Amino acid sequence: MRHIIRAIVPLLFPAVLAAQEIGPAEYAARRDTLAVHLGDGVLVAFGAVSPTEVSRQAQLPAFRWLTGVLEHDAALLLVLRGGRAAGTLFTQPRDPRRMLYDGFPPDSTALARATGFAVRSIGALPPMLDSLAAAGLAVYTLRDYAAEDYADTDTLTRGAVFMRAFAQGHPRATVRDAHPTVDSLRARKSPAEMALLRRAIDVTVAAQREAMRTVRPGLFEYQIEALFTSAFRRSGGDGPAFGSIVGSGPNSTQYHYETNARRMQPGDVVVMDVGAGWNGYAADVTRTVPVSGRFTADQRAVYQIVRDAQRAAERVAGPGASYQAWRDSARAAVARGVARLGLTEGVDATFDPPWADQCRQEPVRCTQSFLYMAHGLGHGIGLEVHDPPHPWKDQGMFAPGQVFTIEPGVYVSTRLLDMLPDTPKNRAMIAKVRPAVERYDNIGVRIEDDYAITDTGVEWLSRAPREPAEIESAMRRRGR
Ligand code: GLY
Ligand code: MN
Ligand code: MN
Repeated sequence: MRHIIRAIVPLLFPAVLAAQEIGPAEYAARRDTLAVHLGDGVLVAFGAVSPTEVSRQAQLPAFRWLTGVLEHDAALLLVLRGGRAAGTLFTQPRDPRRMLYDGFPPDSTALARATGFAVRSIGALPPMLDSLAAAGLAVYTLRDYAAEDYADTDTLTRGAVFMRAFAQGHPRATVRDAHPTVDSLRARKSPAEMALLRRAIDVTVAAQREAMRTVRPGLFEYQIEALFTSAFRRSGGDGPAFGSIVGSGPNSTQYHYETNARRMQPGDVVVMDVGAGWNGYAADVTRTVPVSGRFTADQRAVYQIVRDAQRAAERVAGPGASYQAWRDSARAAVARGVARLGLTEGVDATFDPPWADQCRQEPVRCTQSFLYMAHGLGHGIGLEVHDPPHPWKDQGMFAPGQVFTIEPGVYVSTRLLDMLPDTPKNRAMIAKVRPAVERYDNIGVRIEDDYAITDTGVEWLSRAPREPAEIESAMRRRGR
């Protein structure tokens, strides 16, 4: 049945709308909800620009969330009135030669029929916005930067340039950023979005199992990367939703290692941090496995700390739980674990980190245990791999409909000690902990799972083998 639906839907909305399981009515409802939250006004949103040699992004997430439109170089104008949004979509004039490369886009009639928007050429946007602003409507914008990681660093995007020119022409108008409001709405996933996320996660979990059956000494990290890419595409997914991380031995201790070039050795662990995309929705699942198929006692000891931290955070997560309490629960488990292994001088011991300037704002960054997990505990997933909500940094609380990761890690490397500023406090710490750091050197463990907050608790979505015995058992089924 499912494949019949997948075959029919593209006929109804030929390559115009992005996520085929999300229909025009849901997009329209999202825009009306935004109108309720923003109040009366006018909103201008920008989509992704055409792919270049350096950027091949499909569509910007906020634009995609509001429209489902994948076409490049488009802009959206919404007139918000009385809790309803009326939209006009602006597209670039078609370049006939370009169409021979990029394909024939739908004409404006087809686009209007599939989306419910009035469709105009991009040149009509400035006069239309001018007249609405002249009528005194509040102006909101969704500038065309993509991920929150890059927010505000790019001031030369098309949307920024357009809005700067608009502001110069309308010195009395205040232009407000609608991203925070759209982000808060995007944080709660609809049932249709949940279905797409579940699919992305299921595909990823199946690939993790396949990788566990395949990993063995002598293979290169890129062969495992290729396994994931192939598995994601074979299943009908979009491919990797972000750069796959396959890091063995010393590379297991680098959080975002994507070179994937090393030959795996017996006695290594390998961190596999991957996620399939499914109709634009991203999974994000990490498993760390022993290359030889069995954890050594030392690897298991580190693994257990990470798993304990994840379990602690799972227990806290639920509707109404504060992000802070959730973060603290995992940090406390890591602090206890690394102290037990002699990697720190004690649960609360502090040091002089290379990032000492950040400790006033966040004292935990000056604790020795932070050195072994200097990254956030997890993030929302959705149209971006780092989607709203942002529980790793915000002060809010979990709410039903949120889908997010819990991804603690412990990464041991003598390089951690080498990078410390030469201070009396650090010298004393290094003298105490060096033997343990050398013992666990090159063991990096991250465990990352995907969860949904329900009305009553939290659902674990990414059910790949996770306990050490389950992983070893999955690896025993290896074909040789
Ligand atoms: N895969 C990137 C992350 O875990 O956040
Ligand atoms: Mn993640
Ligand atoms: Mn990840």
